[in-house]
Amino acid sequence: MKKEQNNDGNIRNSNENSKDEKIEKNKQKAIEKNIDKSTEKSTEKNTEKRIAIVTGASAGIGKEFTKLLLQEDVEEIWAIARNQDRLNSLKIELGDKVITISKDLSSPTEIWTIGELLNKHKPVISYLVNNAGIAKMGSYQDFSFEEIVETVGINCTAMVTLCTLCIPYMRKGSRILNISSEASFQPLPYLNLYAATKAFERSYSRSLNVELKEAGITSTAVCPSWVDTDLLLKEYNGKKIKFPGMVSAELVAKIAMRDTKRGKDMSVCTLYVKCVHLAAKLSPQKLAMETWVRKIKKYVM
Ligand SMILES: NC(=O)c1ccc[n+]([C@@H]2O[C@H](COP(=O)([O-])OP(=O)(O)OC[C@H]3O[C@@H](n4cnc5c(N)ncnc54)[C@H](OP(=O)(O)O)[C@@H]3O)[C@@H](O)[C@H]2O)c1
Repeated sequence: MKKEQNNDGNIRNSNENSKDEKIEKNKQKAIEKNIDKSTEKSTEKNTEKRIAIVTGASAGIGKEFTKLLLQEDVEEIWAIARNQDRLNSLKIELGDKVITISKDLSSPTEIWTIGELLNKHKPVISYLVNNAGIAKMGSYQDFSFEEIVETVGINCTAMVTLCTLCIPYMRKGSRILNISSEASFQPLPYLNLYAATKAFERSYSRSLNVELKEAGITSTAVCPSWVDTDLLLKEYNGKKIKFPGMVSAELVAKIAMRDTKRGKDMSVCTLYVKCVHLAAKLSPQKLAMETWVRKIKKYVM
């Protein structure tokens, strides 16, 4: 049997590759069929279709954004995540305005297919919520090469690529929300890679806001502290983790929507995080890192 090397450097046989391609083609066809149905309605009304795009829409903060966007002036919400079953449940719960798009955002090829969908349907994007993200606690030694590539891919590359792909479809008043974190305020040893990707996200998002000012498009970096979702490990090395100042995903999404409508380039949810932000600006980062390491060393060392 013929063996081929794929993009990830893994050896696979050609049957497996063509099977994957067939599955991907069928997936894409199903997504297009979904979108086509509602495009017909917009065409009947002779209007451009206004949409919102939410990544990581099937759970946690992304799901709360999707719920809030249902109340906005958009005809569709393109809900992106990997697991089709969870996306189907989201559609059942929230209704037909939700168009489910199953994509793995750690794969540049899959991100690119979202660009193809935009090119085909030419919607007006009123909201882009770059929310999908992953996190892992641990020493730099605990990360495999695949985990490093995946974390940077989802938290950074996907966010930048989707902004670049979506901005040409935006108009005056369109809004971008990039879900960064309180972790972006200072370097965080043992949450190092995550904090660094979130700092990248905050920095990129705020600069983008300046670049887009003339076009009347806003870009807001959302920086919550601990949020009660499945992203957080509840235990590490057999020890239960405490999360001071933890808030609900619903609150984070609600405040972020309020802040983006006010044109803010950062959304910092709760007084506690605002104080942490101020302290991070005023005190030496070395001190902030030492305090952090004191707090988490019982879990990681
Ligand atoms: N929870 C917190 O304490 C906290 C604090 C500050 C900032 N944040 C940020 O908030 C954002 C959302 O976090 P969350 O807590 O809501 O996470 P979550 O509950 O774990 O949900 C993550 C969402 O992202 C999707 N996702 C994960 N990997 C993906 C991939 N490769 N491709 C496409 N979709 C993917 C998941 O669906 P599938 O698994 O089906 O793909 C899911 O819908 C993240 O950017 C995170 O960094 C979280």
